[in-house]
Amino acid sequence: MSKEIFYPNKELLGDAAINSMEQYRELVKKADEDYEGFWSDLAKEKIDWFKPFDRVLNEDDAPFYKWFEGGQLNVAYQCVGRHLKDKKNKAAIIFEGDNGDQRTLTYRELYYEVNRTANLFRNKFDIKKGDRVVLYMPMIPEAAITMLACAKLGAIHSVVFGGFSAEALRDRIIDAEAKLVVTADGAFRKGKPYMLKPVVDKALEEGCDCVKAVCVVERNKEPIHWERGRDYSYLQMIENESVKCEPEMVDSEHPLFLLYTSGSTGKPKGVQHSSAGYILWAQTTMEYVFDLKDNDTYWCTADVGWITGHTYIVYGPLAAGATTVMFEGVPTFPDAGRCWSMVEEYQINQFYTAPTAIRLLHKMGTDEPYKYDLSSLRVLGTVGEPIDPDAWKWYYEAVGSSKCSIVDTYWQTETGGHMISPLPGATPIKPGCATFALPGIKAEIIEEDGTPTPVGEKGFMCITKPWPSMIRNIWNDPERFKKAYFGDCKKDGKPVYFTGDGAMMDEDGYITITGRTDDVINVSGHRMGTAEVEAAINNHENVAAVAVVGKPHDIKGEGIFAYIVLKSVPSSKDDDVADMLETMKEINALIKKEIGAIALCDDMAFVPDLPKTRSGKIMRRILRSLVKGEEITQDISTLEDPSIVKTIEDILKKV
Ligand code: WTA
Repeated sequence: MSKEIFYPNKELLGDAAINSMEQYRELVKKADEDYEGFWSDLAKEKIDWFKPFDRVLNEDDAPFYKWFEGGQLNVAYQCVGRHLKDKKNKAAIIFEGDNGDQRTLTYRELYYEVNRTANLFRNKFDIKKGDRVVLYMPMIPEAAITMLACAKLGAIHSVVFGGFSAEALRDRIIDAEAKLVVTADGAFRKGKPYMLKPVVDKALEEGCDCVKAVCVVERNKEPIHWERGRDYSYLQMIENESVKCEPEMVDSEHPLFLLYTSGSTGKPKGVQHSSAGYILWAQTTMEYVFDLKDNDTYWCTADVGWITGHTYIVYGPLAAGATTVMFEGVPTFPDAGRCWSMVEEYQINQFYTAPTAIRLLHKMGTDEPYKYDLSSLRVLGTVGEPIDPDAWKWYYEAVGSSKCSIVDTYWQTETGGHMISPLPGATPIKPGCATFALPGIKAEIIEEDGTPTPVGEKGFMCITKPWPSMIRNIWNDPERFKKAYFGDCKKDGKPVYFTGDGAMMDEDGYITITGRTDDVINVSGHRMGTAEVEAAINNHENVAAVAVVGKPHDIKGEGIFAYIVLKSVPSSKDDDVADMLETMKEINALIKKEIGAIALCDDMAFVPDLPKTRSGKIMRRILRSLVKGEEITQDISTLEDPSIVKTIEDILKKV
């Protein structure tokens, strides 16, 4: 890590929401001294309550924490309705399509669209409070509109990323017992149409009796199959709905949405978020971390199918009354200057993206940013994985003109919003380092028993006090919830939330995230459970055993590498290569079918066996070291067959 420290540019960020370390420490102290008071004040200040809460935090049934009990609100009102008072004609969503088409929705227009959509869902599809709606959507305004329409009715949405396969979509529909699926015919990417509806058709072929209707938003207007009595055109029906719709009041703890994410076992987890706590932190971090001001135009390049798209394209920015940009396309089309031309076009003030995109744009267009006027930028953000010094430096100099603050935001699907991040007007930044916990967030690096990990050593990244935007449950699986997040670390004898990440603190108290400690890999900032990929590969008839590990990758951060033991190995040398290539193709086709193209293996090695202990446990650490070309320092004498390590090493040299 670079030793250089970068101080906030006072000219640019002097009037930031938190603009000095003293002010930051004050807030931290306030939360330390009166935790509930800190959160209570924030909740009263930020949320437009329909009924005020009467209890801040209820820990009786820990770890099923409850926040702001007694309070009632509506998240769509918090994000849209209430802004009609003072932001009626302000742009809420600015949309840019893949081919450059533009569409702006003011808060007034967004309000009408959300209301009509909510009315449609209620009147036509009988969607009521608590019903689940699966959204399989491209990056178009209707994705945000339908999310908010669900919130308006108190229905629970579950957005499934458009890159997931029919099988993955089906699993999520069934697990959530969704009544309605909202999708699009398809959308555009790199100048060409791509399709979503056929994937929904395939998903619904089996086992989805819970689904009563499919609502299709026409975007690319390509021909699709219409199932009579099940599929309905959004655009045709929406015309008839009224623009008036009363918000459904919900309790603070009412689930706002589910979002499935990978864990260390095969089945994805339906992370369940609350209404009040979630929206409070989504909105607050927009102000703390992005220094959002009333006239700002803010752009996050994530997809709505991930948590970053939920919290920092839709809910956070709209709750904070911002102008949020939504982009359908990819950053490299028509060329590597696309993002910078959009920053210039819309005068973007905050730009938030993933290190993998920064690395790609750097590689494809080192000088591109200099061709555009990027002087509107104040804050640059990164999320999803650690940012390496090279990428950081380019982002800082070429994109941020050496004056913007870079906020390296550390958080997860489960945390709902940022946990550890620099504050752009306050924190002296060390590149590659997520710096300090945000006020109110008790992030600690500890050992399993709660003792603080010594400075400079790796420990477990835990959040040792409950916080409002935390995961409330795994949908339908409270036991797994307890075990997955509160099973590993304790403090003062009480289970505390463990993130699954390792971290290290330096002598100045700066926190660096060192990566997952479990069997989850981070591909282009996306979480992939190795167990999920292994389960897909195991479906191949000639696979006897498989172990998947992450392999460092220039652009993606980590790529997926599979060690595969075949049942029958080709006998003649001549057939070898052709057969193996064919098997590799078949395996990747299986992964694409079961999960989606995002989980394809970058590389595979066929090995005679895996390094196992005598009790049959696969030693993944050895496999991880081998693929990185590291020397094996672990004790291999406990392996069933220690010679396998050398054999695999030799095979890898040839791959
Ligand atoms: C990783 C994405 C280092 C981490 C918001 C975490 C990071 C996982 C950072 C969550 C960061 C996220 N520095 N690592 N700034 N941000 N991670 O649920 O391993 O898709 O546990 O949420 O990404 O991924 P998820």
